[in-house]
Amino acid sequence: MPGLKVSAPGKIILSGEHAVVYGYPGLYASTSLRMNVKLINKNNKSDFSSFADYAFNKAFQSFKIKNDLNYFYKIESRIPIGSGMGSSASLAVCMSALAQKIAKREFNLDEINKVAYEIEKKQHGKPSGGDNTIVTFGGFVWYRKEAENLKVFSKITPKKRISNLFIINSGIPKETTGEMVNFVREKYEKNPEKIKKIFNQIESCSKGFLKLVLGEENLALKDLISANERYLEELGVVSKETKELIGLLEKKKASVKISGAGGSSHGSGILLIYHKNPESLKNFVKSRKLDMISVSLGKKGVKIEK
Ligand code: MEV
Repeated sequence: MPGLKVSAPGKIILSGEHAVVYGYPGLYASTSLRMNVKLINKNNKSDFSSFADYAFNKAFQSFKIKNDLNYFYKIESRIPIGSGMGSSASLAVCMSALAQKIAKREFNLDEINKVAYEIEKKQHGKPSGGDNTIVTFGGFVWYRKEAENLKVFSKITPKKRISNLFIINSGIPKETTGEMVNFVREKYEKNPEKIKKIFNQIESCSKGFLKLVLGEENLALKDLISANERYLEELGVVSKETKELIGLLEKKKASVKISGAGGSSHGSGILLIYHKNPESLKNFVKSRKLDMISVSLGKKGVKIEK
């Protein structure tokens, strides 16, 4: 078994973050940035983090494997950490897939996803389950958590190619995803009507994205991205610094939104950017010492590597 390797993609949320925690829908896509987790012999143990250790042990427990087998793990990843691209979901899903294989069970995505969701709870408290679902199944997913025990999703085959999208990182947020989810929860509890109104607007955006991807309506991607960003700003999950950066990018005719939990005091994680001509932003991005990451969307979910 040492040498066994699994991989899972990072994700972006086209629309629906935060609202999805409250049962509103979200539209997700997997990306071409992936994480690999390899099973190694404990003697070669090198890197670890407390969450990775937790995920590894919890996955073993869930599949009823005793780790007296002297196993450890090695992670290699191109997914930016703590920036809204699903690095923790990807880790949870990889550990779950690894344990399923060691337990000699058939490769089963639903089972991998369920265990990964339980692992994610440690990281986020009350996750929607959308992140682990997109990372497990890959492609494009329309997701809705109806109840703790009923999470529904559909895989979507886009009729329209989404191009001219790229990512830059506005900086790793100080706050964790769990903290940002709690931050929104406090606002919701203080003023449910106001926050519900924002969630309804986000839902309209998500449906707009869905119809665009399905080729049912010819909506402008740039308008949907910008509208979605304004609602997220109203929720308070975009920091002042990030809003300034977004403002500058918008002056250069880009449409920009955060993707994921965001961050309110410093960086807000990755920014999803649409521009008719992404090349024209290169100098600006360079002058701000930011990296332009081009990603393709809709890549395969978790898999066992040969
Ligand atoms: C984080 O990627 C997305 C959030 O909606 C949290 C969740 O869905 O669990 C902010």
